[in-house]
Amino acid sequence: MKKIITVVGARPQFIKLAALSPHIRKYFTEVIVHTGQHYDSNLSDNFFQELNIPQPDYNLEIGSGTAGFQIGNMILKLEEVFIKENPCCVIVFGDTNSTAAASIVAAKLNIKLAHIEAGLREFDKSIPEETNKLITDILTDFYFCPTDTGVAILKSMGITNNVFNVGDVMIDLIEENRIKIESETKILSDFNLTKKDYVLATIHRASNTDNSENLKEILNALSQIKQKIIFPIHPRTYSIIQNLGLSARVKSDNIIITKPLGYFDTQTLIHYAKFILTDSGGVTKEAYYHKTQAILLDKQTEWIETVNEGWNIQAGPSEKNIINAVLSLKKPDFQSSFLGSGDASKKISYILHDKLY
Ligand code: UD1
Ligand code: UDP
Repeated sequence: MKKIITVVGARPQFIKLAALSPHIRKYFTEVIVHTGQHYDSNLSDNFFQELNIPQPDYNLEIGSGTAGFQIGNMILKLEEVFIKENPCCVIVFGDTNSTAAASIVAAKLNIKLAHIEAGLREFDKSIPEETNKLITDILTDFYFCPTDTGVAILKSMGITNNVFNVGDVMIDLIEENRIKIESETKILSDFNLTKKDYVLATIHRASNTDNSENLKEILNALSQIKQKIIFPIHPRTYSIIQNLGLSARVKSDNIIITKPLGYFDTQTLIHYAKFILTDSGGVTKEAYYHKTQAILLDKQTEWIETVNEGWNIQAGPSEKNIINAVLSLKKPDFQSSFLGSGDASKKISYILHDKLY
């Protein structure tokens, strides 16, 4: 079998890999490279165990740092691995620093590059993920878009060759595990939560954590919400809240702060929440797919369909807008299938088989 390298580094990429890897392995020998961008067990190892992802063949142990530190060191180490393994294709996911680094190395070594979640944009280069998206989509050979919007954006950039709307791989995983997600609800009793009577919050975007004013606006809004809020906190957000002395703002009987949670518990919490507050791209579309409304805490979203259809409300990091959004929540009657139907991984592996053999 021909060899493919999949490169992952951050939490959402392990989840996407869990969906894709079994399908890739039907036709290819897969070598998994973990850059080590995320290293805490509750952001990394736990997902490999819980989602039965094969252990990475390489862990580059890059760790945290500036974009230059991370991308530079990843490039050096990825180059060694790609030369040694000599794959016919490298697969990258989403828009993290790990994505950009692997794209640069694959392109420089003339190895075919496949991008999962191609074509999405937030049209703001101050967002770290936006430059990663741009770097990757300039260098990609096979564009696996999750939506028609991705295809249209690539077309507007003059990219039309080898562009496929396959749907979203994260939907595959929800569909495969729907019964477990909806029936195993221990996480609700663990936190004394009642179905449809609590709020789930996640915050980790650079614009909401590194900007203390934005973070304060969001935390002030949280403190005004009547329902119990479960807030599995990203370590980035936790340390900034500590460093800025903002812990008092999230110390209320209503706000349950906990460590980052596993995949299944998080899906169950999304499914049964009354509504969600998030700046996570993954949670934005998962909320939509679970038919739970979400208030988006970032200024832009690449999942604009979720807003256009009235499911999600784009409040941004504004206390006033968030509270207004909470008051105006109303579930739409209609939901499209713009994220596909849960067979994205199958389609991707067929197409790669067709193109690479
Ligand atoms: C990264 C991605 C972001 C993605 C997110 C998923 C980039 C630019 N950002 O953001 O697109 O949405 O992952 O969660 O690639 N830290 C730990 N333990 C860890 C990892 C990080 O404590 O295992 C802390 C460190 O203080 C680190 C900070 O979190 O400096 C930020 O980590 P980093 O990977 O740079 O960015 P994320 O915010 O996680
Ligand atoms: N997620 C999780 N545990 C958590 C928070 C999020 O398993 O405590 C999942 C979430 O359901 C989604 C993915 O992690 O599948 C999203 O990752 P993240 O928010 O870190 O990154 P983004 O999608 O914004 O890049």
